[in-house]
Amino acid sequence: MQEISVTRSTNLKAKPADESALGFGRLFTDHMFIMDYVEGQGWKDARIVPYEPFAMDPAAMVLHYGQAIFEGMKCYRRADGGLQLFRPTDNLARMTRSAQRMGMPALDEETALEGLKQLIAIEADWVPHRDGTSLYIRPTMISMDVGLGVHASKTYRFFIILSPVGAYYKEGLKPVSIYVEDEYVRAVRGGVGFTKCAGNYAASILAGDIAEKKGFSQVLWLDGVEQKYVEEVGSMNMMFAYGNTIKTPMLNGSILPGITRDSILKLARQLGYETVEGRLDIHEIFEDAKSGKMTEAFGTGTAAVISPVGSLCMKDERVVLGDGGIGTLSQKLYDTLTGIQYGRLEDKNGWILKLS
Ligand code: COI
Repeated sequence: MQEISVTRSTNLKAKPADESALGFGRLFTDHMFIMDYVEGQGWKDARIVPYEPFAMDPAAMVLHYGQAIFEGMKCYRRADGGLQLFRPTDNLARMTRSAQRMGMPALDEETALEGLKQLIAIEADWVPHRDGTSLYIRPTMISMDVGLGVHASKTYRFFIILSPVGAYYKEGLKPVSIYVEDEYVRAVRGGVGFTKCAGNYAASILAGDIAEKKGFSQVLWLDGVEQKYVEEVGSMNMMFAYGNTIKTPMLNGSILPGITRDSILKLARQLGYETVEGRLDIHEIFEDAKSGKMTEAFGTGTAAVISPVGSLCMKDERVVLGDGGIGTLSQKLYDTLTGIQYGRLEDKNGWILKLS
């Protein structure tokens, strides 16, 4: 593991006075963690420095060919004031998997975790206290070579920035409406859908924008071949409850292997529910929603946590799920997951890393 140098900011920002108005990803703390990679030398110069803009060459490869990957995780404040992370090593390991697919170097996960711990220790006062708030952590890796030839860069930068956040959706825990996207596709098998690369999110922006203008919170992506099977919502994986059974799309290479997805599947099984990972035909989902066979639908993600879905719309057809409130199962899973994350419930799975 590398030594990490620390340069403190002499110009600290005011902390947000109203924690009920944090929104998502709008404010950033006073410091960031950076390390750089040079082929033949590996990761080096691990440092915590004041948060400030990067100077980048306009020909830096990331700006042209998009070798950029990121992660999303959170630091939670317990009722006793202590701080903790949820499955951080799983996020860093996923970043290395994203890097491999994008022709980028494996992350120095040990130094990244140590850098994160030291960064949070410096920024501890930025972790909000209010129920449902947290300090969102955004580790990112970008290619830095200067030049326009399309090939793997020999230099990279990894950085971590921190943002105090509230709920991802303005609806909070109220059900969101989702538009089933039948024109554009997000990813195809063999592509990069399973990675957390910036391009996957760039590809989702147009459809998301169109859906938003029609009053929907997000789009639900269908598979890129037949446009028939449910994939994911860009910011979350999808789950559908049928009484005691929870169905979710299987990890087929084109959807993100969500850490929250995995946690919810494990917790659901521990709570006595059956889980099924398979190919879910959107037409059957609509039929099951209409007939009442499907009892609830919700999304899972680090930013979104558990977000109940109140209605699905495909072309001109709309199905309403539940009674406009959060369903019993969604609430139970939300309470269990956040109970563990905020230290209210015992962590039987070894997911929590206590920082203080
Ligand atoms: C996360 O849930 O952490 C993500 O990275 C999703 C992003 C759209 C906010």
